[in-house]
Amino acid sequence: MVQNIAAIVRELEPEDFYLLSGVEQGMRFSEWVNREKLPSYSQLTAEEIDYRLDRCMRHELIERRTIQYEGYQLTFEGYDVLALHTFAERETVDGIGAPLGVGKESDVYEAISYKPLAIKYHREGYTNFREVQKERDYTSDHHHVSWLYTARKAAEREHEALQAVYPDVSVPRPIDQNRHAIVMEKFDGVELARAKLESEQVVAILDLILRELATAYREGYVHADISEYNVAIAESGITIFDWPQSVPTDHENSDELLERDVRNIHKYFKRKYPAETPSIDISGVAGAIASKSFDSIRSHEKQ
Ligand SMILES: Nc1ncnc2c1ncn2[C@@H]1O[C@H](COP(=O)(O)OP(=O)(O)OP(=O)(O)O)[C@@H](O)[C@H]1O
Ligand SMILES: [Mg+2]
Repeated sequence: MVQNIAAIVRELEPEDFYLLSGVEQGMRFSEWVNREKLPSYSQLTAEEIDYRLDRCMRHELIERRTIQYEGYQLTFEGYDVLALHTFAERETVDGIGAPLGVGKESDVYEAISYKPLAIKYHREGYTNFREVQKERDYTSDHHHVSWLYTARKAAEREHEALQAVYPDVSVPRPIDQNRHAIVMEKFDGVELARAKLESEQVVAILDLILRELATAYREGYVHADISEYNVAIAESGITIFDWPQSVPTDHENSDELLERDVRNIHKYFKRKYPAETPSIDISGVAGAIASKSFDSIRSHEKQ
């Protein structure tokens, strides 16, 4: 479990990180890294490698598969450890704390630092990768796209979007990114899906969300995965999070994706707060956002 990685990182020695980095390098070329290649990838002697493989296997940071050859690959915990080690070296975080949200596509943990931060480890590609792998001859590595790559790309995309829209849009402040992980400020509040809004708040909150989407659009981004699970509500305001699927507004589908975001969030309000939520002209509101003239949901109410 990832929670243990803070303890594991403390126990690891520099040579363990050489080995893990060596396996990581090898995984750029094959899913299972041939043991014989490890000395050159990790700059360790064969003897040292024996010892380090053992330790890293025991901590479940790497896995072994012996069919035609003896091969190793990082587990997600191994990749997590490498990213956490880098954050610690950069003094971005001191350690990892309690889970904040664990899902299919990511694990989010509190990060210990001078102030409350969150680490999000992307998991995109991992589940699929496992399924595909079972059915495939593992030596046919030619076109393999490793989960390391897919998850790293997702983290890069999310970090880039956060940097572009922060602070004009109410998103978690981005702090750092490495491999498949991002560090950001921790936000307060509960997911919109779990919040129970008072009648008089409903239109105001929906309006706030649409204003944030409008600002993001003006800053050049469409979130493209807006739902009641990716908006947090607190006393201090709202936060729009979970940006790995966002697209720049020069993307050919960006206006459609914006319209889908608006439709999805409006549909949620309509379902949960039918009496308070006005019907709106969705193509009108998305159009207005796209043409930068969106002011308030009130002006888009259907008569
Ligand atoms: N910066 C943060 N501060 C506090 N909590 C956070 C932060 N980022 C994420 N979380 C928590 O982690 C959960 C998952 O985060 P996010 O929506 O970004 O990932 P996800 O890929 O959608 O994960 P899932 O597969 O669970 O949907 C959020 O619902 C939230 O509760
Ligand atoms: Mg989410």
